[in-house]
Amino acid sequence: MKRIIQVGVGGMGAVWTDRVANSKSWKAVAYVDVSEAALKAAAERFGMPKSRCFTSLEEALDAVEADALLDVTPQQFRKATCCAAFDRGLDVLCEKPLADNLRNAKTIVARAKKRARTLMVAQNYRYQPPTQTAKQFIESGRLGDVGYVGVAFHKGPKFGGFRQEMAYPLVLDMSIHHFDMMRCTLGADVRSVQAASIYAPWNWNKGDATAMVQLEMENGGVVNYFASWVATGWETPWNAHWRFEGSNGVLLWENDTLHFSNAPAQRQKLPLVKMPSVHQAFLIEEFARVLDEGREPDTSGQRNLNSFATTWAVVRAAKEKRPVLISEMLE
Ligand SMILES: NC(=O)c1ccc[n+]([C@@H]2O[C@H](COP(=O)([O-])OP(=O)(O)OC[C@H]3O[C@@H](n4cnc5c(N)ncnc54)[C@H](O)[C@@H]3O)[C@@H](O)[C@H]2O)c1
Repeated sequence: MKRIIQVGVGGMGAVWTDRVANSKSWKAVAYVDVSEAALKAAAERFGMPKSRCFTSLEEALDAVEADALLDVTPQQFRKATCCAAFDRGLDVLCEKPLADNLRNAKTIVARAKKRARTLMVAQNYRYQPPTQTAKQFIESGRLGDVGYVGVAFHKGPKFGGFRQEMAYPLVLDMSIHHFDMMRCTLGADVRSVQAASIYAPWNWNKGDATAMVQLEMENGGVVNYFASWVATGWETPWNAHWRFEGSNGVLLWENDTLHFSNAPAQRQKLPLVKMPSVHQAFLIEEFARVLDEGREPDTSGQRNLNSFATTWAVVRAAKEKRPVLISEMLE
């Protein structure tokens, strides 16, 4: 079993403590959280001894031997957490988004490279049957050339906490999943974006929480993305609704069901691919596999920079009212 230190055990961290406890490849050797209450709850649930629960990451790294670190802190702590781990020779699996800004994201990726460590970002929306089914169907060629894609996402969550205070909470915290799913299903990076950001009159967040984005992919495909986090009714799933338009027909992904259609009023339901594990449970085992096999993860920090830079390119495009190249963000 590989040994992992989990940093951040409250909120999303509580999901991860469970996935690590049920992993066949990993054993949690320490918990770190600035909240005593979150530490106590996690320790009681999974029997972590008090001597292995820390409010300071440095103390944990001094006291406990480990192979890797799992970072489930909010993104403003990502750079300090990940870099401390790399400097101690640990590989890292971190939550999305990769950082709180582009400069810090680049620093994290550079530090992993400098220390020759693996950095994998937990883009869990890739690792579930609908995404993998869409990806495999497009790869099979049955759709033909994919010309354009429409994505609609509408949710009205009231999270409170840091999301309600941050600028562009939808684009920076949520849309990263959808942009990463575009790269996964279409098998291409994002090349450029144009965007309009909307502050709905009833928005309960400080920052804009609705966006209209056009994305051009490196393979020429174009995506029209309309997303909102302040829906007042009839929501879509978290995965959103997708329509991939190809030269041979249409792939529809609605309510987590996929259909293929090549006639105006007919469609055929597609079986979803079977996966032994999904989301965080898949990621934690995949993290062990990439380390054992010495290969770069599909969601390595380096590769994830394209998804991450896309979120910030959307912000820039909306503010400056002009198309923005992803390469310009990564200069
Ligand atoms: N992949 C997903 O579907 C998904 C879902 C929710 C959250 N997330 C991501 O997970 C991360 C955490 O989000 P959350 O909702 O759990 O946040 P949260 O604020 O609810 O919880 C974060 C936890 O980290 C602890 N923490 C904060 N700063 C810390 C520090 N410097 N060192 C150690 N512990 C610290 C907090 O006390 C808390 O227990 C974010 O980056 C978020 O985007 C991902």
